[in-house]
Amino acid sequence: MQRVIKLEEVDSNGFKVGFIDAIYRNGLLFLNQIRVNERVRGMGYGRNLLTRLLSLGASLGANRLEGNFRPDSGALLSARVFYQHMGISIYRGMLYKPL
Ligand SMILES: CC(C)(COP(=O)(O)OP(=O)(O)OC[C@H]1O[C@@H](n2cnc3c(N)ncnc32)[C@H](O)[C@@H]1OP(=O)(O)O)[C@@H](O)C(=O)NCCC(=O)NCCS
Repeated sequence: MQRVIKLEEVDSNGFKVGFIDAIYRNGLLFLNQIRVNERVRGMGYGRNLLTRLLSLGASLGANRLEGNFRPDSGALLSARVFYQHMGISIYRGMLYKPL
């Protein structure tokens, strides 16, 4: 079973402030992209998106999260710290977290 997952996060006024997209297949949850609007970074939206993705992935049967570590230019350090805070390892340009 393969499933494309796209989740959005909105602010208190209902405006879209970020999104995450991933693919689930055969126990693997593969993170394609996560992005939060620059003006609202550091407010917990990224954590919410990733937490929602991980719980959906687990309910589908995922046993691990993987992805490519490809931050925006200028966002390298913040993306690294973000994944660290989320318990995700970065090794040789790849993201990894057992679920
Ligand atoms: C990476 C990104 C999605 C994080 O989203 P965010 O909404 O800013 O993250 P949050 O506010 O939910 O932060 C989650 C945790 O990471 C930490 N964190 C995030 N950015 C941080 C920074 N620049 N410095 C220190 N800590 C940071 C927060 O303190 C928080 O930790 P805590 O919950 O343990 O206190 C966002 O910065 C982004 O869109 N970056 C540009 C796109 C990009 O490079 N995506 C990654 C592709 S690989």
